[in-house]
Amino acid sequence: MEQAGPDFYDDEAVFASYMSHRQRVDTPNDTLEKPVIMDLIGCITGKRILDLGCGDAAIGRELLHHGAASYTGIEGSHKMAAVASNKLADTAGLVIEETIENWTYPYTAFDLVIARLSLHYVADLAPIYTQIFHALTPAGLFVFSVEHPVITSCYQGWTSGTLRQDWIVDNYFTTGVRVTHWLGGTVQKYHRTVEDYFHLLNEAGFMIEDLREARPQREHFHDVQTYERRKRIPLFLILAARKPV
Ligand SMILES: C[S@@+](CC[C@H](N)C(=O)[O-])C[C@H]1O[C@@H](n2cnc3c(N)ncnc32)[C@H](O)[C@@H]1O
Repeated sequence: MEQAGPDFYDDEAVFASYMSHRQRVDTPNDTLEKPVIMDLIGCITGKRILDLGCGDAAIGRELLHHGAASYTGIEGSHKMAAVASNKLADTAGLVIEETIENWTYPYTAFDLVIARLSLHYVADLAPIYTQIFHALTPAGLFVFSVEHPVITSCYQGWTSGTLRQDWIVDNYFTTGVRVTHWLGGTVQKYHRTVEDYFHLLNEAGFMIEDLREARPQREHFHDVQTYERRKRIPLFLILAARKPV
């Protein structure tokens, strides 16, 4: 039975598997996604930061350490929110256990909103983008990453395990729900095309500043074979969009 994002991460086996997966050397999150996010968010000194689907909030700890004025993480999984609260225990960071869909977004309360690999679990992005737009101050920045649409298009790629030789892209323009077997569980994600992400941002009022696909950079990898392998397909799509002044 497939689960929605927060329930999936609350599953005992999935949670354990995800946490150990994130500890591995050269994870795609560390080698590909995070360097682009850090590059796009730029200077965070004095910024009030909202993080949607914050996971363990490790980045919140780091951003506060580097001078962010505040950090608020929204996390729908009970287990993950507990880890995040622990991680931020001796900081000014705050974790709110709530879903991205149900949280009441305050008006012009943040300078920067980030959402790292959480928005492909959300069925209807248009109202979320609108709420993010209203939660940002004028000139505020929204930076988010999602699994790349070539990955979310078709579930076969996820089922072939580490022996897979090729990744299948199929049904690309048939957008909507996808059921994926991953980390020992079954999760529901939502596939959108690259232009869907772009147009949804425009329609919410944002000006798009950058679009990235996390092209592998050798200096982020310990292992050269992993670096070579990561050059085959894009795993992440990352967009930076600004609220006009
Ligand atoms: C792949 S993890 C990424 C965690 C963190 N952003 C990071 O990059 O390390 C996705 C996270 O989003 C959370 N999530 C998924 N759907 C959500 C929703 N609708 N509302 C709140 N959190 C959600 C999950 O519980 C999980 O912690």
